[in-house]
Amino acid sequence: MAANHLHPLLCLALAMLVSLDFSCTQTGITSRSSLEAATGASWSSLSGRFSFGFYATEGGLAVGVWLATVPNVTITWTANRNDTGTGSTLRLADDGRLLWTGVGDHDRTIARPSRLAVTGAVRDNGNFVMFVTDDAVVWQTFESDDTLVAGQELVPAAQLFSSVSDTNKAVGKYRLANQQLDDNLVLYPVGMPNDAASSYWNTGTFDLGFTL
Ligand SMILES: *[C@@H]1O[C@H](CO)[C@@H](O)[C@H](O)[C@H]1NC(C)=O
Ligand SMILES: *[C@@H]1O[C@H](CO)[C@@H](O)[C@H](O)[C@H]1NC(C)=O
Repeated sequence: MAANHLHPLLCLALAMLVSLDFSCTQTGITSRSSLEAATGASWSSLSGRFSFGFYATEGGLAVGVWLATVPNVTITWTANRNDTGTGSTLRLADDGRLLWTGVGDHDRTIARPSRLAVTGAVRDNGNFVMFVTDDAVVWQTFESDDTLVAGQELVPAAQLFSSVSDTNKAVGKYRLANQQLDDNLVLYPVGMPNDAASSYWNTGTFDLGFTL
């Protein structure tokens, strides 16, 4: 994690020089970091543009990522969208999972990386990422299913699900599918199969060979 120990200004300058997705993070979230559950309790990206932490929602608190620079905060990702709670602490467990402890009488898994994660960080593009020791990203909120932000991809076979409302991020009635089989981008009601009769809109890009 050498990049995370650089001075933030030096890090920014480097990022501008090389125009890369440089690992400039204000907060390296390690097994020693934790966040007490409270509205607005969060870790921020380098510029403060995005935050990751607890926000208030119908039914309690949710864990998510939000764009913090507009008058009304915009939620861009929510963990376990249908489950709110009032747990005690968010922390990186020894087994590499990101845990919300004490929700009801159990711990809730927020992230289960494919390899043992040692650090997490909120990036300035809104991606909350978890790393292993060689800096490889093993989990990221950009694999999200609710919102696309600039720089994020909806990869083939991925879907976006609507929210119940602006204030309730539980899974709503509609989904947008990037269909791997025919390269078409199609809107369906949730619970309906991926077939033409169920769809209500599409980009008409089937079999054009678009790939990401
Ligand atoms: C912010 O929220 C308030 C209260 O809900 C609303 O009246 C206002 O229009 C919102 N502003 C924006 C920019 O969305
Ligand atoms: C999530 O919550 C919404 C609204 O309460 C409900 O309509 C939907 O069926 C739920 N989805 C799942 C997968 O539980």
